[in-house]
Amino acid sequence: MSFLELIDLKTHFPVKKGLIFRKQVGMVKAVDGVNLAIEKGEILGLVGESGCGKSTLSRTVMQLIPATSGSVILEGKDLTRTSAHNVRSQRINFQMIFQDPYASLNPRMTVYTTLAEALRTRYPALTGDELTRRISEIMERVGLDRRFMRKYPHEFSGGQRQRIAIARALAPEPKLILADEPVSALDVSIQSQILNLLKQLVRELGLTMIFISHDLSVVRYISDRIAVMYFGKIVELGPAEEVMDHPQHDYTKTLIASIPKIEKRG
Ligand SMILES: Nc1ncnc2c1ncn2[C@@H]1O[C@H](COP(=O)(O)OP(=O)(O)O)[C@@H](O)[C@H]1O
Ligand SMILES: [Mg+2]
Repeated sequence: MSFLELIDLKTHFPVKKGLIFRKQVGMVKAVDGVNLAIEKGEILGLVGESGCGKSTLSRTVMQLIPATSGSVILEGKDLTRTSAHNVRSQRINFQMIFQDPYASLNPRMTVYTTLAEALRTRYPALTGDELTRRISEIMERVGLDRRFMRKYPHEFSGGQRQRIAIARALAPEPKLILADEPVSALDVSIQSQILNLLKQLVRELGLTMIFISHDLSVVRYISDRIAVMYFGKIVELGPAEEVMDHPQHDYTKTLIASIPKIEKRG
């Protein structure tokens, strides 16, 4: 049994037309029959151009959008056939990291408050010195100085803000991290720091991660295996080196060809 299994997963959105009598005129097949097995401890990179369905796939895995059909099986339990209440209690086990930490962090909450709230989703009784100690510990893990605990998101740089978002995702001790374009808004010089941090955390904490990006060079850098998504389907899947060195699908070849040459030699 794999840690996470997606079986013939489909998420279709109705397309409606007309201002008053909104008639359904078609379907956007954002996710259209995805089969994928992810092992515990692995980093699976999901790559594909904008609009191919990556975010919809991750939201469907999280049960934030209902699947049209198919199954999401986490540790043997089918989440698509679990009650809403149980899905909510399961959600603590998977956390998301998004592209824009400024939008996903509450501007009125200090790092302390943000992390306290996240920690209490798993440990509701945590208070006082013990809470502060745990917050310091998490901040240290993601490379933030504990002296910044009382600061607000706008007082940090983009890279530091993404570290806060990563800390918040780790605080509830999830099993699975879904990182949706987590470095796409960052300067190239900061990207590799954040990628290294994510990789290190996944290894140290024994996490499993789905890492989403439209940028194959970023995905190759961090992933154990790469899944290439194209119009709602996984068209190629394999160990990162194999996909890079021996791409089978024409679309993967196009993605590889579009990586700047200098990087390919490195
Ligand atoms: N809530 C929605 N309603 C209708 N169409 C949607 C919705 N969310 C996404 N889509 C469409 O589904 C497709 C996939 O989008 P998305 O998953 O955001 O792709 P990606 O993350 O790869 O850029 C796009 O055509 C998008 O317009
Ligand atoms: Mg997206």
